[in-house]
Amino acid sequence: MKILSIETSCDETAVSILEAQGDATDTRFTVLGNALYSQAHKHAEFGGVYPSLAKREHAENLVPLLVSALRDSGMYEAGKCTLPADDKAFIEHTLMREERLARIVLRNLVHLAPPAIDVITVTHGPGLEPALWVGVNFARVLGRIWDKPIMPVNHLEGHLVAGLVAHEPNSTPVGYLLDTVAYPLLGLIVSGGHTEFVYSTRVGAYEKIGGTRDDSIGEAFDKVARMMSLPYPGGLELSRLAEKGRPSLHKHEVLAIPGLKPLPRPMLHSDDLDFSFSGLKTAVKYQIRDISTLTDEARLRIAADFEESVCEVVVAKTESALTHFPTKTFVLGGGVSANNYLRTRLGQLFSSSAYAHIPLRVPADGLSTDNAIMIGMAGYLAHQRGVPTLSSEDDLRANGNLAW
Ligand code: KG4
Ligand code: ZN
Repeated sequence: MKILSIETSCDETAVSILEAQGDATDTRFTVLGNALYSQAHKHAEFGGVYPSLAKREHAENLVPLLVSALRDSGMYEAGKCTLPADDKAFIEHTLMREERLARIVLRNLVHLAPPAIDVITVTHGPGLEPALWVGVNFARVLGRIWDKPIMPVNHLEGHLVAGLVAHEPNSTPVGYLLDTVAYPLLGLIVSGGHTEFVYSTRVGAYEKIGGTRDDSIGEAFDKVARMMSLPYPGGLELSRLAEKGRPSLHKHEVLAIPGLKPLPRPMLHSDDLDFSFSGLKTAVKYQIRDISTLTDEARLRIAADFEESVCEVVVAKTESALTHFPTKTFVLGGGVSANNYLRTRLGQLFSSSAYAHIPLRVPADGLSTDNAIMIGMAGYLAHQRGVPTLSSEDDLRANGNLAW
């Protein structure tokens, strides 16, 4: 089955074309085409994602990205079709609020021969609703002009599936393999928008069992990075500082920097699976205010302590989740799952004698942060287990608060 997938939930615009074979116990995904544009630099001056700008950027970039993915996959065939008048009216009506996209579609896409895809998958939530609508309406328009069914996908399920697949070694084009997953499965999504534990006793059934009460982990990383004058999104850069600062942190020597105190470990001992990172972020703010100058040494030390705090809490909560919920597979997903230190700390937990029997699965390279490949994979698996597809006429909506 060939799948065209679209992701516009936040500030990454992404389109991919996958070929999928097999079922949930043995699936092979081949990436025939993949195009991704990160708008992050455009949002940098706002220190976070600015929804109306994200919406405009998605509308501007979806068609060029689609064309690029079609070309990669050898499915781009120009100059073949003429558009029936009612399809034109459908495009104009569906993309009423995305006028610019309607113009680009009418100019560039309507003459293409329908590509040899079987289904269109699209993220319909959760995320920034204005951004999600662009992708959803675009999928409906493509479904209409190419007469293809549409499978809406939950972005969080995409992150979870991304953590379950493994990169296929030495394959060209790039491939991913999904082998049998033992259930019950415990998942932890750590991204810019979410920090959630999810529990699943069988394929496709999810229950949220804990999560952040305020900021997500990614948000905390990005806000602390901003305090350290790192450009948005600063998670990766902050973790690089933390890595350099870690040796001094681990010496447990008396802190030589006046005003510097150890950061809190929020909700470490709370009797639940919830998190709270906003106090930690504020603690960093006060640290920076209280020391007279933010020297390089102090920046490294604060970054390391921040990362240590986050990882300590995540590991403790994961252990607590494992004691309350019988688990045969643990999976980490979302942008922050790219964090090396978090992977190391969780790796230590899952190699300790109590949990060594539970495999720890983490996303393959490139699948931690937002992408369309994971949306195509999750859509395929949903299709395999019988979730019905929709037609472009059906009531397909974006839902910023979509739950599991
Ligand atoms: O999953 P994602 O691409 O978007 C959402 O669905 O929210 O996650 C983006 C988040 C950003 O906050 C980014 O700073 C963070 O993931 N991130 C990291 C690292 N790489 C990305 N945070 C810490 N360490 C990293 N290596
Ligand atoms: Zn995401």
